[in-house]
Amino acid sequence: MPTLLPRPTAQEFSDGEFDLTRDTALSAHPDLVQPAQRLQERLRAATGFVLPLDVSTTAPDSVGIRLDLDRSLAAEGFALETAPGAVRIAASTGRGAQWAVQALLQLFPAAVYRRSPAAGVRWAAPATRFTDAPKFPWRGAMLDVVRHFAPTRDVLRFIDLLAMHRLNTLHLHLSDDQGWRVEIARYPRLTEVGGWRPETQLGAAHGSAADGRPHGGFYTQDDIREIVAYAADRGITVVPEIELPGHAQAAVAAYPELGVGDSAPTTPWTLWGINPVIFNVEESTIAFLSDVLDEIIELFPSEYICIGGDECPKIQWVEDERTQERMRELGLHDEEELQSWFVSRIGQHLASRGRKLLGWDEILEGGLADGATVLSWRGRVGALTAARSGNDVVACPEDTVYLDYRESDLPSEPIPTGTVTTVEKAYSFDPVPAELDAEQATHVLGGQANLWTEHIDSMRGLDYRAFPRLAAVAEALWTTGDREYEEFAPRLAEHLARLDAAGVEYRHADGPRPWQERPGVSGRTRSVEEAAAHLARITANIG
Ligand code: ACM
Repeated sequence: MPTLLPRPTAQEFSDGEFDLTRDTALSAHPDLVQPAQRLQERLRAATGFVLPLDVSTTAPDSVGIRLDLDRSLAAEGFALETAPGAVRIAASTGRGAQWAVQALLQLFPAAVYRRSPAAGVRWAAPATRFTDAPKFPWRGAMLDVVRHFAPTRDVLRFIDLLAMHRLNTLHLHLSDDQGWRVEIARYPRLTEVGGWRPETQLGAAHGSAADGRPHGGFYTQDDIREIVAYAADRGITVVPEIELPGHAQAAVAAYPELGVGDSAPTTPWTLWGINPVIFNVEESTIAFLSDVLDEIIELFPSEYICIGGDECPKIQWVEDERTQERMRELGLHDEEELQSWFVSRIGQHLASRGRKLLGWDEILEGGLADGATVLSWRGRVGALTAARSGNDVVACPEDTVYLDYRESDLPSEPIPTGTVTTVEKAYSFDPVPAELDAEQATHVLGGQANLWTEHIDSMRGLDYRAFPRLAAVAEALWTTGDREYEEFAPRLAEHLARLDAAGVEYRHADGPRPWQERPGVSGRTRSVEEAAAHLARITANIG
């Protein structure tokens, strides 16, 4: 009997099976055409059956699979019933029906995730019925497309994988020191200059070798429209992030007038870490960033716009006479208040356009803008502070859901960074700190896993870091009630067959395969000599 991941709160089984054949008909309410089309496409790819899709407000008399509206169900919730001859899906929204389709697919053999028809498979799903709904409205993953650029086709593939796990939010990190990744019509140098860096640091520590190869790329506005539409068709919202006032080197290299003083760098940064280059606090810079955000708002229908706000060293502001003068003009006492002023100005602009500001938990420093939503990443303090002051929170504590962090202390781990974050640890994720009372807890919208890509330069690398940990996070954000890792582990083992069928190069429990290893020089966990020995071992493995 196939099990589901994420697991429903309760599920009933009965005798018999639903058999999918090339004669199975598909029918959907007009409001649920997209989920029906996703089901049709998936089944066509994996089975070769082209199921005719009938769109009608009432179910035709004889129909195999039917998607219907039921406004009494929870937002994103669904009811699913499979029985001999019939599959019935009900949902109150297209999103709910998307998740029902994903649950239904998991009732079929894992080959249903293949990209070309599998031979000799009997496409049977066990008879079952259940109603399900997610625990949290924000179930996301952040993808950093700056440190390494992910071409549009890779982003679309990642969206498919999020949908498979019923995650509903893709947070795209679009600007940083090392690159600017979205076309802004009014300021073309952001991508012409800011989209490319001359080379890239190879290891995790400064002093590591550089690769000597230019890296870059960006999404045109048409690319973004494609990504946003593709995600929406799968129940996923894309939340854009434009970093300010720190993580600004790519923008400052493109438009030096945005920088502090007159020593602007001429290219995006080639190193990893925290960078002193930040935006100046002139009205002209606020206006520039407001123009940028206006184009972002046009492209992304998301209610939330992320403005970064993390890791902003104030040294340039402290040392710059003009900034100090500006601070006095504004009646501000220190650089923390100045950062808070900067973020508030941007927040006012977003509010004037009907959007909500989302920022990393550093936006709490120096006072938090009313209505700002906090991405709590440095442990739980940000979540506690924000929720207690009535601000909304998306939890993404680095010790639990930073999926770029290493999964073990094995010497074969590719460029190990961060702290060891196992599947079990990711599964333990609970976005709501126990210290919050019931009212405060309502401010926790949910959580997301973050995938920073300093050491992820391909989809193969992304698969390795993201899976299967992202599957564990997805269940932590979806499933209501008690969760035990011992109960989850066998279901995950079964789920790996689905990832295999989908062509996902996940990390195996016993460590990376030889082709997944990369000799890193992290400085934190590995000396140059160890890295050289490691390289020799990989070479021996391959040879
Ligand atoms: C972050 O990890 N700097 C938000």
